[in-house]
Amino acid sequence: MSYFITIEGTDGAGKSTQLNWVADMLTDKNIEFVVTREPGGTVLGESLRELILSREKISITPLSQLLLMFAARAQHIQEVIQPALDSGKWVVCDRFTDASYAYQGAAGGLGMDVVSAIESLVHGELQPDLTILLDVSVEIGEARIAKRSESSDRFEKLETEKKKKIRKTYLDRCLLYPDRIKRIDASKDISGVKTQIEQILEPLLP
Ligand code: TYD
Repeated sequence: MSYFITIEGTDGAGKSTQLNWVADMLTDKNIEFVVTREPGGTVLGESLRELILSREKISITPLSQLLLMFAARAQHIQEVIQPALDSGKWVVCDRFTDASYAYQGAAGGLGMDVVSAIESLVHGELQPDLTILLDVSVEIGEARIAKRSESSDRFEKLETEKKKKIRKTYLDRCLLYPDRIKRIDASKDISGVKTQIEQILEPLLP
């Protein structure tokens, strides 16, 4: 049985570090898997990513953002995700459609129904089996981002009110899909977060 796992988090939650651990845990169990990310994961997706995340003066309306995210996603599903799952590999994806609900639906003001309509078109039956949500308060996330040396992307620059909407949407979706989306308190120390991830993955492992 292969599983499709997505990892989401509010900005500054430490998603990249935790994603590496998920990969390490699967490697330890000799599970074949593909690690990928959104927006991205294909040649088209990575070029769209550059365009979408750049902070240069390209104006992109929330609806255009959403359509670009889903254009990248359509290619990603068809070219990478579905073939990997079909061949028995697990897929670990750094962000997926829950991010479109949070960033474009909520922060961008498009509303959930617009995202849902495009989701039905692009996903078909596909949904992640497990979504790990790394959750920290907006205040802690911002403090962590401020300490980083690299420059922040278009979305990390969002004002605090929008970041609060993003977090709220993730938490609301957790309540809507409690079997799929598991929240992890990412304000804890790194090893505490790792332990929580191990507990969540355990039931899926052979
Ligand atoms: P990511 O690489 O996860 O950035 P970080 O590791 O710094 O959190 O994601 C890039 C950004 O793209 C992130 O700020 C969220 C945004 N995004 C959307 O706005 N909509 C989407 O559908 C996806 C997948 C990502």
